[in-house]
Amino acid sequence: MSQPQFRTPKGTHDILPEDNQYMTYIKKAVRHRARQAGFKRIDPPIFENRQIFERGIGEHTDIVEKELFVVSGKQSEDKSEFALRPEFTAGICRSYIENGMQQLPQPVELYAIGPCFRHDRPQKGRYRQFHQFDFEIIGIKDPSLDAQLIHVVTKIFEDLQILDRLKLQINNIGTAENRLAYVAALKDFFIGKERNLPDLDRERLTTNPLRLLDSKEEDTQILLKSAPTLDQFLSDESKVYHSTLLEYLTELGIQFQENKSLVRGLDYYTQTVFEFWDSETGAQNAVGGGGRYDALIELLGGKPTPGTGFAGGMERIIWQMKQAGVKAPHKDQVDVFVAQLGPEAKKSCLRLISELREKGVHTVGALGEASLKSQMRLADKFQVRYALLLGKMEVKGGTIILRDMQAGKQKEIKYDKAVSTIIELLGEKNLDTYTLKDRMGESD
Ligand code: HAM
Repeated sequence: MSQPQFRTPKGTHDILPEDNQYMTYIKKAVRHRARQAGFKRIDPPIFENRQIFERGIGEHTDIVEKELFVVSGKQSEDKSEFALRPEFTAGICRSYIENGMQQLPQPVELYAIGPCFRHDRPQKGRYRQFHQFDFEIIGIKDPSLDAQLIHVVTKIFEDLQILDRLKLQINNIGTAENRLAYVAALKDFFIGKERNLPDLDRERLTTNPLRLLDSKEEDTQILLKSAPTLDQFLSDESKVYHSTLLEYLTELGIQFQENKSLVRGLDYYTQTVFEFWDSETGAQNAVGGGGRYDALIELLGGKPTPGTGFAGGMERIIWQMKQAGVKAPHKDQVDVFVAQLGPEAKKSCLRLISELREKGVHTVGALGEASLKSQMRLADKFQVRYALLLGKMEVKGGTIILRDMQAGKQKEIKYDKAVSTIIELLGEKNLDTYTLKDRMGESD
């Protein structure tokens, strides 16, 4: 086979029909659980002023420092004012401020689904364009809201039949003041020991010392064993907040694992942080993560407003579902194949196909010039339940041939009865009808 001239850019992929069945299924579960809990859908733009991400997520995070996809407005402009969204939270907080959502009853509960972009080194489960679903609860600070958020997320994982493959990791990283005091102590501790740190971690010690805690470097982890720990610097308020949250999770029957070195890769977090890890391989394959961000809205120019949220990575969730052998139910099957021969038959079939589709029967027709035999082979490949065959003879006699593809049997019926016979065979309840009511409930 010759090599195609064009391929998808590195780190991106087509979501082919089979994976779209999974995508649709995940979106359905998300929308259903979101509605149950009063979340409303929001779609922030795919690109935003890059400062929103730089300020929000943090200048010295990997996401901003290395992975931001910057874009300029016009081809002629070389200054890049915008960036593709690497996540939803910062954009949603910008929207909360811009649209005066503090006037709404609080908390404001929003959810989003869509593509995000990080210019990361592509590897398994790490792409440059990937998809997240995201939940945010903004306006009130209470551990019961963190617990409710985590509950909604566990329900989605349960619906998708992957909850038992995941482990919820949870930690409290304290308020901004708690962390400032800790970071100072950590820097003090490393004075004179910098030489023993790997290059990347030595740099982190000046730019983002908290990231040392979840460093994968063995040398760093050995040194950290005798370093002060973050929980020694947590205020009583943070400690009580955390233990109350854990009590609520227990009350809701949610299993978790306390993880003192969980800090997350975004700077906006305060207090609660959590991730869902693959129970076997751990953080590398986190299917989602989130936490509380009580200073973010103020940082973006709004009034001080607390918030908590979560985002799930849809590609990684699909991978988990496939590993677990979960099949995504879908409605993509073709029910009927219409085959024809001759110009008169072709005309009648066009009408017949349209009528069947209108009634909710999934119908495909090869309206080319191929022989009936090769059209039937095609029908076989589509794995249809029934085929309708219209040749010159049948047109003359006002009939049509109905073939049961599974049974391999066929009979002649009246052309006028074709639609009603098919409906009867498939059963009214299996028809794919589409009403305005459905459309109002289901935004995609
Ligand atoms: P995050 O941990 O950066 O958090 O991303 C959430 C999830 O998105 C990850 O656990 C992972 O499943 C998926 N993900 C991230 N990067 C990639 C990638 N390059 N390829 C494939 N999947 C990826 C956030 O984005 C926060 N905004 C979550 C949040 C919402 N916090 C508060 N509210």
